Amino acid sequence: MRVDFSYSRIFKFLFLTYLVISILYIFLFFYGSPHKTHDKLTPVTPSKVPQHTQPSVEDNKNEILWANNQGSTVPLSESYVYSKLFSETMQPTNLKPYYYRMEPAPSPDDITVATLITADRFQVFEKLVNNYKGPISVALHISDDHNQANILRRLDNMYQSNPLMKKYVDIHLIIDKFERQFNYWRNVARFFSRTDYFLLLDIDFYLCTDFRQSLQNHPELMNRLKDGNVAIVLPAFEYDVLNEGRDAKVFPRVKSDLVKLVDDKKVSMFHKGWTRGHGSSNYTHWYQADTPYTVTEYNFSYEPYVIVKKDGIPWCNERFIGYGGNKAACLFEIYLSGVDYWVLPQDFIIHQNHDYLEDTRRIERNFNKKVYQNFREEACFRYFRNFLSRNEWGTPKADNLKKECSKSVPNFLKDTTAYQSETLQ
Ligand SMILES: *[C@@H]1O[C@H](CO)[C@@H](O)[C@H](O)[C@H]1NC(C)=O
Ligand SMILES: *[C@@H]1O[C@H](CO)[C@@H](O)[C@H](O)[C@H]1NC(C)=O
Repeated sequence: MRVDFSYSRIFKFLFLTYLVISILYIFLFFYGSPHKTHDKLTPVTPSKVPQHTQPSVEDNKNEILWANNQGSTVPLSESYVYSKLFSETMQPTNLKPYYYRMEPAPSPDDITVATLITADRFQVFEKLVNNYKGPISVALHISDDHNQANILRRLDNMYQSNPLMKKYVDIHLIIDKFERQFNYWRNVARFFSRTDYFLLLDIDFYLCTDFRQSLQNHPELMNRLKDGNVAIVLPAFEYDVLNEGRDAKVFPRVKSDLVKLVDDKKVSMFHKGWTRGHGSSNYTHWYQADTPYTVTEYNFSYEPYVIVKKDGIPWCNERFIGYGGNKAACLFEIYLSGVDYWVLPQDFIIHQNHDYLEDTRRIERNFNKKVYQNFREEACFRYFRNFLSRNEWGTPKADNLKKECSKSVPNFLKDTTAYQSETLQ
């Protein structure tokens, strides 16, 4: 009896406890944890508002509208348009133009430095920004892997912490799995640059002089640049001893100091072991020159750093992947199209030395040697037909092509002459 009684009391007690806990639980579920919910819904107090939000790399839903003069529009997605804009490049690739953009927009008659970087070049890139103090359009390639978020954070820190970045730099992101598609990246940097002229520069070069200032002393050259007839060369140099050329702080800023270093055999033309790369600039002439002069001995491996007009100049061909041929191909096509190379007499750039991965370079160069060989033949015939159809074959505009293609392509003049007489019949 006693046992039964106590069982029923325990049972009652347990039941009541269960009831109370359940009611409390239900109450708390609907009206409870006021603090937690409150925190989530309350707007962040001003002191907690971040200075900015890091832009997203997610696919945006932008559309490009094609309007007619009746005001009707046809929309095409941005990514679809890019897939054709850069159609020779490897797909898929995620392009984010103006991921960061300078304010205000640059003056159209200025010269944009168009260049390419990867995350390991941030330091030297920042040096360029601090030094140039003019518009810069940079294609930043980021590998599509686990490091991405980290790189974007570092980029954000760099951009937000330097007022010169906000004033002068447009950053275009390229996120994909493909390394070293340099000509795609070059075209992106150029395409989205916002001035009429650009300097195609490799990021490791230090701009030792104020070439924009110098150009003002050569109005005749500026006029030719406006007409799209010239590419203006900034001669490139490097320190012979790797370690002496790492720090731009010690680089000369005027030609006389540079020439002294050359005489002392401390500095030489860039890549003196590969003279065809820059030899056409004729360095022996440059040391004496005080007026701009034309390049007379063009070589298809010539790859100087040039200022050109943005509109109307051939683009860099995107078929090259990896080292070798890519930059030379850009300059070859520009040259064939009838643009002459002029070298500035007082301005120069110097390579900021660093270590290279030579093995990748050697193998890729071998591939691209063949690609470039084919490319040159193709370009020669394409421009020949272009000039012929536009009745420009007999004009000075075709001189570069005639000269260069008869060196590059066997029987070029014979074949083109035969073609002309056949089509004239
Ligand atoms: C280019 O330069 C190299 C080295 O100076 C030379 O051997 C070669 O013949 C040149 N090629 C052309 C097409 O001028
Ligand atoms: C380079 O310039 C020097 C000095 O002006 C001249 O003698 C030489 O012929 C030029 N060489 C070439 C390849 O243009």
